[in-house]
Amino acid sequence: MPDRGFTSTQLAARAAYLLRGNDLGTMTSAAPKLYPHMWSWDAAFVAVGLAPLSVERAVVELDTLLSAQWKNGMIPHIVFANGVDGYFPGPSRWAVSELAAHAPGQVQTSGITQPPVHAVAVQRILEHSRRHGRSTRAVAEEFLDRRWADLVRWHRWLAHARDLDGNGRIALYHGWESGMDNSPRWDAAYANVVAGPVPPFHREDLEHVADATQRPSDREYTRYLWLLEEMKTARYEDGVLAKAMSFAVEDVFVSAVFSLSCEVLATIGEEHARPNADVRELYSWSDRFRKGVIATTDSRTGAAKDFDLRSGKWVATDTLAMFAPLLCGGLDRQAERALLRTFEGPKFCGHPDLRYAVPPSTSPVSGDFRPREYWRGPVWPVMTWLFSWAFARRGWAERANVLRAEGLRQASDGTFAEYYEPFTGDPLGSMQQSWTAAAVLDWLG
Ligand code: GLC
Repeated sequence: MPDRGFTSTQLAARAAYLLRGNDLGTMTSAAPKLYPHMWSWDAAFVAVGLAPLSVERAVVELDTLLSAQWKNGMIPHIVFANGVDGYFPGPSRWAVSELAAHAPGQVQTSGITQPPVHAVAVQRILEHSRRHGRSTRAVAEEFLDRRWADLVRWHRWLAHARDLDGNGRIALYHGWESGMDNSPRWDAAYANVVAGPVPPFHREDLEHVADATQRPSDREYTRYLWLLEEMKTARYEDGVLAKAMSFAVEDVFVSAVFSLSCEVLATIGEEHARPNADVRELYSWSDRFRKGVIATTDSRTGAAKDFDLRSGKWVATDTLAMFAPLLCGGLDRQAERALLRTFEGPKFCGHPDLRYAVPPSTSPVSGDFRPREYWRGPVWPVMTWLFSWAFARRGWAERANVLRAEGLRQASDGTFAEYYEPFTGDPLGSMQQSWTAAAVLDWLG
């Protein structure tokens, strides 16, 4: 448990206070300054953290997100808060209301997606609601009635529009869609992106993070923005993007998360008497994507790979992505044990110089490792949470507990940082990050 700073009770109170502070009414900003809007996978994790505080408020969070769902089923990666500036690229740069036929009418959103962790939040909400009286249970169940079809539509869009050849892996057209924006996983794919002219831009992120080396470089940023221009030319049409985007990768981590989420949603559907056809479809996607993940793995080490659709090359990196099969299962016993040994060994959580035994985003022994640079090395508490949750679900209670305990020790500094330097434990990026507080609340709940 906490080894410095705050006790568990104090930490939980501060985390709850933080989420209230970031609450904009019907959405929680991902962070107060750097990310003043709603992010898709952040919203799901935030709902996980809100559920023990208020099932009703957690439901509002997911309702807000789902109200921004596109007509084709996509959940966009950002839902912009009304009248809030200070984030780039904002609504006018994405221009989805003018260009995208599928964009929602009432709300402003970005034009790409993010990892599908939302079923996890729905499950947590239902679980918490059972600890309450009838009226809270009714709120959760009405939510499921109201939103079941939308959740299935979201999964169906991923299974169809983002897996055109049906191989069980999700295609992404922007590194931001992976949630791991500048991970070394995407270096090769980005290197092949030849950026054309990009309208002028001003990096708002650098106004809020003093040390620019903790953020992606300008060169990286120009490519990110060029991809937006390509998407705008394609008018965000799924079929056109698949051919036209100069960045296209199959993300093994997102594919594993999707397999897992399909299974979670199918289970919820069974327990709540949802249509059989939906439940069957969800299970079939879960299987297909589990197989898709396993097909990328090395038979001896169990490590998974991404695939660059443009160069036709596999991309093996020593990053969190290699552990995708631990989330969704499907490896044979030996390979799984080998992969767990890597996760717990000196390349990752067991590296002798780590301040806490939690997985860094990139292995410290990898040539790509940068201890302070965003997704190139730092520890992201929300990822520690995801692995601890998934391990508990897979029946590895002891492993789940170790991650939880170490994650809490790290969080006991009370900064709720977006990410941490793995060796020194320095809090980096944004402070008061909502999903970090949410992870802590779930762990302590
Ligand atoms: C960064 C992260 C992304 C997250 C967002 C808001 O862009 O890379 O995963 O969703 O911030 O927290």
